[in-house]
Amino acid sequence: MILSDVNLVFRQGELTAIIGPSGSGKSTLVKCLTTAHRPTRGTVCAEGGDIWKMRHRYRQILGYVPQDDIIHPQLTVQQAFFYASKLRLDTDVGEAAIRKRIDAIAGMLGLAEQSRRRIYKLSGGQRKRVNIGIELLADPSILILDEPASGLDPGTEEDLVKLLGSLADSGRTVVTTTHSMEYLSAFDQIVLLASGRVIFSGLHQELLAHFGVTHAADVFKAIRQKDASYWVSSYNASPLSRKALGG
Ligand SMILES: Nc1ncnc2c1ncn2[C@@H]1O[C@H](COP(=O)(O)OP(=O)(O)OP(=O)(O)O)[C@@H](O)[C@H]1O
Ligand SMILES: [Mg+2]
Repeated sequence: MILSDVNLVFRQGELTAIIGPSGSGKSTLVKCLTTAHRPTRGTVCAEGGDIWKMRHRYRQILGYVPQDDIIHPQLTVQQAFFYASKLRLDTDVGEAAIRKRIDAIAGMLGLAEQSRRRIYKLSGGQRKRVNIGIELLADPSILILDEPASGLDPGTEEDLVKLLGSLADSGRTVVTTTHSMEYLSAFDQIVLLASGRVIFSGLHQELLAHFGVTHAADVFKAIRQKDASYWVSSYNASPLSRKALGG
């Protein structure tokens, strides 16, 4: 069993970070949230329904940016966006409307200057933004990303977190896994996994207080002092777990 006792709510307009040591189950959780994996037990709901029962509809409202690039490196940014639009948007959306939408998204992602450049010539951060842009073309109300910041320098990573925050502010539900403990104060919810269990959910300041550390970077050191079941009990006994479920 990879995940157990995972009870979480991801709200509209909120940006959530899923953090935890390597192998703690972050990608598995993301796959369960995106219908890439079907959990053997338990349900994931969106808009009041089980995402597996409504998966065709769910995939229309979902944007999923997996860890590995899904774009063809020989295409220019504009071409990648254009073909993705052709695949994803209704056939009655005209070419002029597609071009307008592509320009708007490239502008929002700071890719306007790169739009005629081939993807293999882009930097890692620019390429990651192209992957995000492809998902935004269909205007998803839920956006889920797996390690979008890995390999980015701190400045680029900060820009990415700000971008995700603004996507959440515009009413989307945004969930991302991250290895970085650097910009956690920008998140509306931080979920910490250890050994496939939720050992914390809450805000940055609550994270520091719960684990008795002054810097988020020390949280992993603190959790290694005790086993996961200790931290699960401590989390379940705290008001944080009730707050996470809206209680
Ligand atoms: N398909 C699978 N079958 C069996 N075990 C798996 C499978 N996928 C993942 N695991 C195991 O489940 C655990 C959690 O893996 P997961 O990829 O979710 O971790 P993660 O938190 O994303 O780690 P990382 O930070 O390294 O990406 C690991 O021990 C992994 O080996
Ligand atoms: Mg992973």
